Amino acid sequence: MKQTDGPVSVLFVCLGNICRSPLAEGVFRQAVRNHGCTNRFHIDSAGTGGWHSGSPPDPRSVAVARRHGIDISGQLCRKITADDFSQFDYILGMDHDNIANLRAAAPGDHGRIHLFLDLAFGRPVEIADPYYGGSGGFEEAYRIIREGSEALLEKL
Ligand code: 4NP
Repeated sequence: MKQTDGPVSVLFVCLGNICRSPLAEGVFRQAVRNHGCTNRFHIDSAGTGGWHSGSPPDPRSVAVARRHGIDISGQLCRKITADDFSQFDYILGMDHDNIANLRAAAPGDHGRIHLFLDLAFGRPVEIADPYYGGSGGFEEAYRIIREGSEALLEKL
């Protein structure tokens, strides 16, 4: 889908950058590695809010990733910047609120902003925010992020 040379850059975005998008960054990175195409991608994550900037991911996200053989404990939360909108090919929100926040923050056109699972599956499925729930929500988020990551990789 990309027109120019160089790695395809993908930025996963949620509200806090401590639950869903760090998990998506770690899961997609592992999927890319498993398919032997690490050099073809630049992968990162960010939040539309900056309350947790500089913090590691939520311990429940770290734990669910670890249960599936992925270490995301070294990631640090950051807020999306104006430069991200021109530097990333794909800016992927987890839910419709993320998309609305991204569209409001984007300095230019919105063509790079997509709902992650809409791009992956061709259906506008949201990834629910697990922050206020129990650990089951994190396992469910992992499961759908895993499926979405495999589908996205096929697509890109
Ligand atoms: P995330 O979850 O957007 O998946 O990182 C949240 C994390 C923190 C908050 C909300 C959602 N919060 O309100 O602090």
